[in-house]
Amino acid sequence: MKRLGLLFLAAVVVIGAGVAIFLFKPASLPDVSEAAAKLPTGQALIDRGEYLTRAADCVACHTTAGGKPYAGGLAFKLPFGIIYSPNITADKETGIGNWTDAEFVRALHQGIDKAGQNLYPAFSYAAYAQMTTEDALAIKAYLFSLPPISAEAPKNELGFPFNQRYVMRFWNLLFVPGPLQPDPKQSEEWNRGAYLVEAMAHCGECHTPRNLMFAVNNGKKFAGAELQGWKAYNISSDKQTGIGSWTDQQLFDYLSKGHAEGRGSATGSMGEAVDFSLRHLTPEDVKAIVTYVKSVPPQTSADKAIVEAEPATLTASTAYAPAANAATQDSLGLKIFQGACASCHGWNGEGLQTPYASLKGSRTVNDPDGTNLIQVILKGAHMTTQQGRQSMPGFANAYSDVEIAALSNYVLGHFGGKQSAITPDNVANARKQ
Ligand code: HEC
Ligand code: HEC
Ligand code: HEC
Repeated sequence: MKRLGLLFLAAVVVIGAGVAIFLFKPASLPDVSEAAAKLPTGQALIDRGEYLTRAADCVACHTTAGGKPYAGGLAFKLPFGIIYSPNITADKETGIGNWTDAEFVRALHQGIDKAGQNLYPAFSYAAYAQMTTEDALAIKAYLFSLPPISAEAPKNELGFPFNQRYVMRFWNLLFVPGPLQPDPKQSEEWNRGAYLVEAMAHCGECHTPRNLMFAVNNGKKFAGAELQGWKAYNISSDKQTGIGSWTDQQLFDYLSKGHAEGRGSATGSMGEAVDFSLRHLTPEDVKAIVTYVKSVPPQTSADKAIVEAEPATLTASTAYAPAANAATQDSLGLKIFQGACASCHGWNGEGLQTPYASLKGSRTVNDPDGTNLIQVILKGAHMTTQQGRQSMPGFANAYSDVEIAALSNYVLGHFGGKQSAITPDNVANARKQ
């Protein structure tokens, strides 16, 4: 018995020492010389880097509203505190101007900073880990070709134990993949799409639900998730709760222009993804994304946001019929829609001055939870497109919670044929996001 006890103690000591070495040993740097030798030089390298930096949408997280691109400072409110994105311009004091190529590649592939500290996965490095070393180096070359900006990001607000960065080493071991391997059974287009979606555009970081450890749960790939008060809808090929019934052309248009006829427009962080990233991609690359996304197996979500393209409420009232509507709909909501919304969206939701304002077939006006609808009404939306700048003003200051709740219920009933019960509390909560 005594000997067993000693053996047990020895085992604990050995395992404990192993874990301690794993946690505290300095992180090694990758050898990037082979990849660097394969790259073009000068402007050709910078151009390639610019395209890839857009495809990976680094700007979205490393820029504040109205702030300088890549200068950081954007707040990420996580369940356990607030962290801020750092400055990734080439400024030597406040940015990453002193980082070597190897340090930069290690950050993208393993989420480790210059000092060897682990970064948090609010930085989408679990996606970028699948990027080739060449592409990561091209991105660095582009960022370093821009003028350095001096800007210090605010200090993170994390309590113990979440400020213990080394814990992320276990997380990385479990959840961070290696470079994406092409699938020889699939076409070249599909493989290009897979690379763009997984290693660059990181669609799953928003559209795939996370597990208890905040890692993307690929068992439910693209089944939809909630982030910062918005729903990133189910984009698996399920016909009802996903995008299985979208045509390839609709998905192509939505991604490359931010609007698809019969499917509404991209707003919130999707509007940004289109504006900053996807609309800059070549048509071939967007087509490849469409091919890959449409091949993702269906996932049924519990979502009640099922799109009814022509609900009876709309077909019955081809012209504005306030009396008929007032009988069945909240008349406060109707009055607000008439005063604040109808001039752009039309009574049939056809979109009067621009197709971007068409509400027909939009999931947002079919979701009885009203999650994105309330957000759009509060914050508005805007996007640069080939047809000029599209924009909708925000109404957060124009209407009370009671008014916005009534308006939301009216919009869902009228344009989606949905029974909803949005309350002023729902609106008050959305304001805090
Ligand atoms: C989804 C949001 C998001 C995206 C997209 C994103 N980042 Fe970040 N990034 C962050 C956050 C947040 C941090 C800070 C994490 C921390 O403090 O642990 C960070 C940290 C970094 C760091 C470490 C800098 C330092 O000073 O420690 C680098 C380098 C970096 N990002 C580069 C990039 C590049 C290059 C891209 C595009 C390929 C990119 N990021 C895309 C959110 C993002
Ligand atoms: C930063 C988070 C984020 C990223 C990255 C992102 N999305 Fe989205 N996506 C959203 C949100 C939020 C919505 C809801 C937009 C709305 O309500 O207008 C959305 C909506 C969509 C829709 C519309 C679904 C519907 O039923 O109306 C499609 C299609 C879509 N995204 C595809 C993609 C693809 C493909 C990618 C990667 C190339 C991607 N998204 C990347 C957040 C994101
Ligand atoms: C000045 C014109 C204008 C006004 C006024 C306006 N909108 Fe919009 N709305 C737009 C445009 C344009 C878009 C698409 C913007 C984009 O995608 O960037 C949009 C988008 C939307 C969307 C998202 C559509 C989708 O497919 O997801 C909803 C919902 C919406 N508006 C509802 C309203 C409501 C309710 C009001 C009244 C409080 C209103 N809008 C007032 C122009 C307007």
